[in-house]
Amino acid sequence: MSRLTESPTWQALQAQQLQWRDRTLRSLFQEDPARAERYSVEAAGLFLDYSKNHIDDPTLSLLHQLVEDAAWQDWRNRMFAGEHINHSEGRPVLHVALRVPAETHLTSTDGLHAEIVAARQKMYDFAEQVRSGQWRGYQGDLITNIVNIGIGGSDVGPSMAYAALQPYASPDLTLFFVSNIDSAQLNDVLAHCQPSNTLFIVSSKSFTTLETLTNARGARAWFEQQVGSDPKAFAQHFVAVTAAPNAAIEFGIPAKNCFLFWDWVGGRYSIWSSIGLPLVLAVGSEQFDQFLAGAYAMDQHFCTAPIEKNMPVILALLGIWQHNFWGCTNYALLPYAQRLAGLPLYMQQLDMESNGKSWDRAGEWVDYSTGPVLWGAAGTNGQHAFFQLLHQGTQQIPMDFILLAEGDAHWPQHHQFLLANALAQMEALMQGKSRSEAETELLPGEAKYLAVYRQFAGNRCSNALILPRLDAFSLGALLALYEHKVFVQGVIWRLNSFDQWGVEYGKALAKSVSAWLGQEKMPTTVSSSTRRLVERLKNR
Ligand code: F6P
Repeated sequence: MSRLTESPTWQALQAQQLQWRDRTLRSLFQEDPARAERYSVEAAGLFLDYSKNHIDDPTLSLLHQLVEDAAWQDWRNRMFAGEHINHSEGRPVLHVALRVPAETHLTSTDGLHAEIVAARQKMYDFAEQVRSGQWRGYQGDLITNIVNIGIGGSDVGPSMAYAALQPYASPDLTLFFVSNIDSAQLNDVLAHCQPSNTLFIVSSKSFTTLETLTNARGARAWFEQQVGSDPKAFAQHFVAVTAAPNAAIEFGIPAKNCFLFWDWVGGRYSIWSSIGLPLVLAVGSEQFDQFLAGAYAMDQHFCTAPIEKNMPVILALLGIWQHNFWGCTNYALLPYAQRLAGLPLYMQQLDMESNGKSWDRAGEWVDYSTGPVLWGAAGTNGQHAFFQLLHQGTQQIPMDFILLAEGDAHWPQHHQFLLANALAQMEALMQGKSRSEAETELLPGEAKYLAVYRQFAGNRCSNALILPRLDAFSLGALLALYEHKVFVQGVIWRLNSFDQWGVEYGKALAKSVSAWLGQEKMPTTVSSSTRRLVERLKNR
């Protein structure tokens, strides 16, 4: 296969970018009053305005060619059909199958669908028992605290969604999330809990992750110190969510307390599986069904919408255009919703663990840049931290602003100001302000040179994504949108977006280093830096 960067489409896009040098976003809007209408799209209740980007029809058609060259529809179809597209782990990638409605009749994957529905029903039944007070602690107390112990995909999805859907959560249950191997987190959570009313969910696909197992052992020790080592009591308070039930059973969790999923669900795509158990406990099965329905609606859109109206494809192409042809290595995700404050971390795992790679599917080193550095924070807090750089810094950083059409009806003024800030930022970032415009705004007596600092280059790209409201359906659609965006980018970059060997290496090495911090001698191959650091920390 020829190199991507040598393809006629890639080279045409490079040439196209040069033609953009003298064109500003401001001028594009002046030239075309219908620009915003032309460059916006709807899907699964979400509205995307992507008009504030350096695009026009010729650029877009080249970008469409780029994704067609990558045979994206074949890859998409192969993913949905359950082919082993995660070749380095020899697995299919079927998280989309988890969102297919229970009542749907499928012919090709009927057996699998039935298994998925059954696993989900087991999770729903258990959650209902806890929520209704039928499942109680070892002394007959109601369960009021849920502690999810997990990390990465076994943590960020449920914790982000729990915060996002707080208004739908049961007031009778408080959820805590313990992920970090820093004992401070477990310690602080346990300080809020009593063994008699606390349920621990040990969430780990592999059931080998050091952080999770260490925290789970800590929680078990805390429980047994107070209750004694009684397997019956333990079984009322510890459940597992895993794709490795034998390891969970070996840990001491009874088989009936194990909620399963499959190795073809990647950790960062697992919120749709039994990993969603904490969320189901919090918001109930009907809301979780809505969450799945939103994602399913986005899946349907992704599979059927033409390329020029396909929201995930559009987002993917804009990202590639900015990243590979404009040299924007960063990308900011800016949810104007406090309840979505956890979204940037969730998206960091989704995007950077999927596409932060340097070898393509054929094992060739890529000669183009892949996954962007993604970061962000909830607006308006971010405005008071890093927006200065977005406006006047030397780098162009593309941004996704996420807005909610409907806010909390009890606080209309807050919501109006929140939306106003988001819209104002996008407008200012795009329009900029020339030095002469800044001069006209100087106050009487102010020195003219001050206008230098008050000018804005503008011409900064952003997307506006509007959710009707922050509910389970929209959240599901939003997450699926970004999953598919990342997938399409991976297809264009010729990556396997579904493995994460980079993380595995560090994980394995940590086990050796831990032994060196104990009694074990360091091998001579260890660098002098690590050697000195280990010695320094040992001799504290
Ligand atoms: O961060 C690496 C990773 O393997 C993620 O992909 C995964 O979500 C996380 O570790 C946790 O893994 P597990 O669910 O197996 O404990």
